[in-house]
This record gives sequence, structure tokens and C-alpha cells, in this order.
Amino acid sequence: MSDRYESIRQQLTRDPQKWLITGVAGFIGSNLLEALLKLDQEVVGLDNFATGHQRNLDEVRSVVTPAQWARFRFVEGDIRNLDDCRAAVKGAAHVLHEAALGSVPRSVNDPITTHEVNISGFLNMLVAARDAKVESFTYAASSSTYGDHPGLPKVEDRIGQPLSPYAVTKYANELYASVFARTYGLNAIGLRYFNVFGKRQDPDGAYAAVIPKWTAALIADEQVTINGDGETSRDFCFIDNVVQMNILAALSEPQARNQVYNVAVGDRTTLNQLYDGLKRELAENGVINEGSAVYAPFRAGDVRHSQANVDKAVQLLGYASAIPLADGLAIAMPWYIRFLSERRVPAEADMATRPA
Ligand SMILES: NC(=O)c1ccc[n+]([C@@H]2O[C@H](COP(=O)([O-])OP(=O)(O)OC[C@H]3O[C@@H](n4cnc5c(N)ncnc54)[C@H](O)[C@@H]3O)[C@@H](O)[C@H]2O)c1
Repeated sequence: MSDRYESIRQQLTRDPQKWLITGVAGFIGSNLLEALLKLDQEVVGLDNFATGHQRNLDEVRSVVTPAQWARFRFVEGDIRNLDDCRAAVKGAAHVLHEAALGSVPRSVNDPITTHEVNISGFLNMLVAARDAKVESFTYAASSSTYGDHPGLPKVEDRIGQPLSPYAVTKYANELYASVFARTYGLNAIGLRYFNVFGKRQDPDGAYAAVIPKWTAALIADEQVTINGDGETSRDFCFIDNVVQMNILAALSEPQARNQVYNVAVGDRTTLNQLYDGLKRELAENGVINEGSAVYAPFRAGDVRHSQANVDKAVQLLGYASAIPLADGLAIAMPWYIRFLSERRVPAEADMATRPA
């Protein structure tokens, strides 16, 4: 753990703060909630369950103490509604804005809803946070903002043309946040996440991310489909790195504010390598899949290669000891095995009791 991260954690425990997490029932939001409650912080969470789940909140409740859980208040609401945003942000010192519709293919299929949530909803949150005079506004930006820029590794100030409606929305977030910083003095920091993974990332649905989707398929002994030739690469980032960056950003020094930062490890792994790594890690946990992957056409809007330079976060925020892909998979796999097997039990029990 970095010295700065450790000292901020101690400072927060001594002097608890009030936080708002939007998208709290989602993958990243619920992991942020767990981390903050374990530091005895007071947290309000906003979500409309568009892609998040009550089960994520229930799981957080099961891993914190009753006293820590009592410091959490959930507001069911929609960021497209300014009143919901204002009600949720009231009294918060720090905002961690995660609510959005993720997924490049979803945005290709339905650009209007992605726009409404990710741009109009984002603007509502900026206005609400500005008027509530929050100390910091940290938001989920995205590596998709690098678009077609060929440079590797990706450095924050060199971006290309966006390749999907989703990428447009995430870039628009950065532009709006920067204007709110200049015009209204809002202390905003954008975190460009690179393919995050970890417990509670949803394995279901057409828009599931690659790691939970393939993990679920491998555990169910189903065939995995790789889009393209498998040499597409990503800088897969374990959730704990994202939690660290959010806390560092919210409590950052003035010279680090009103910037965007890459949040990743700084490595590059191809989809073929990821597939092998997942099979290896599952085998370590006793789950053997003898099958092999099939290849399908490339997906529209996908960036070919992605790898971050994380020097800016190291220098300005004190980001350190990023957990690499292999270590993150080793931590995440037992959770997926348990989650997916617990889910299968009721279905099988249900089948058994169904009349023939
Ligand atoms: N997971 C990644 O790899 C990744 C990469 C880059 C950026 N991001 C960004 O990180 C953030 C969190 O992503 P995630 O992976 O946790 O996704 P997620 O889908 O698990 O979480 C998003 C949450 O936002 C909520 N939400 C959606 N629309 C809402 C609305 N109108 N009002 C209120 N709540 C709403 C959803 O119900 C969900 O709980 C998003 O902004 C996403 O774009 C994620």
C-alpha cells in the first residue's frame, strides 16, 4: 500500500467524512461503498438499479459491521432527475460519481439512452454538486476516450477521435467537468478507468464485460467466443486499484486537482492470453474446462490496443503498488466460483421439485 494511501486511510478513520456514491448498486460503486464503510465513513448511495443490483448492497451489508452499515443511507433515484441528484448530494463533502450506462456495444445499439444518462445525468450531478458546495467531485471517466490515437502506452494529454457513442459521452464528461472547474471553481477529478474487473462485476447479459462473461462460461462448461483474432489487448485493472485511486483523488492536494488520470496497471494482455490465464486460474481452484474458444468477427467501436502510462497518478496522487492482472484474478476467481455455484443451487432445487 502506498504511503500516501495509508496515511489518507488513517486520516479518514480519525476524521470520518460524508460521501455520496452514485451507481452504488453497481460493480465499482458497491466496492467503493464496502471500502468506505470499512473506514467508518458516512455514505449516501444513489442508484436506479438500471444495471446495478440489490444483491450487491446485500453483500456489502454482510461484510461490514452493523455499526458500519448504519452509516449508509440508500436513495433510489435517477441521475436524469436533477431533484434526485440534489437530494442525494445534500451535506456530502466528497462525491464519487460512478452512475452511467457502461458498454460500448450498448451505446452503439442505443445511443440516445446512453447520452441521456451519461451526459445529461452527468451534467445534473455537476450542477447538484456545485450548488451543494462539495469539497471534491471524482468521476468515472474512461480509457475509451483515447479512441483511435495509435500511441502506446496511453498518456493523458494525447487522445484521438472517439470510436463509439459511449466514448463520446465519457469525453463530454471530461469537457464539462473542466468547464465547471474553470467557471465555478468545482474541484473535479476524472479517472480514466481501463477495463476494471473484480468481485460483483456482473457476468450476465448482452453487455457483460469480458472477464466475468468468460469466467461464467468457463465455469458452466460453455464455449467462449473471442471477438476478432484474440490479439486485441487491454490493460486489465483490478478493482482495488480503482478504490485506491478514488480515495487518493478525493483527498488530493490542490495541485493535483482538475485533471484526468489513467487508472490501470501499465501492462498489456491480449484476449488470447486472458483466456489462457482464466483457464489456468480456474484450474488452480479445481474448475477444469477442456474446451477451446471460437473466434467471431471484431466488434464495432472496439479499440484495438489499450495500455496505460500511470506516471501522472503516481507523481500527483501517490498511486502505488497497483495489483497486476494475475494477482487480481487469483483474488476474484474464488468469489465468482462461489457466486455462480450458489446461484445454480436454487435453480437445480427448483427443477427437482417441479412436477414431471
Ligand atoms: N467497469 C469498467 O471496466 C469501466 C471502465 C471504464 C469506465 N467505467 C465507468 O465506471 C462507472 C461504473 O461502472 P461499473 O462497471 O461499476 O458499471 P455498473 O453497471 O455495474 O454500475 C453502474 C451503476 O450505475 C447505475 N445507474 C445507471 N444509470 C443510472 C441512472 N440513470 N441513475 C442512477 N443510477 C444509474 C446502475 O444501476 C449501476 O448500479 C461507469 O461510469 C462506467 O462508465 C467502467
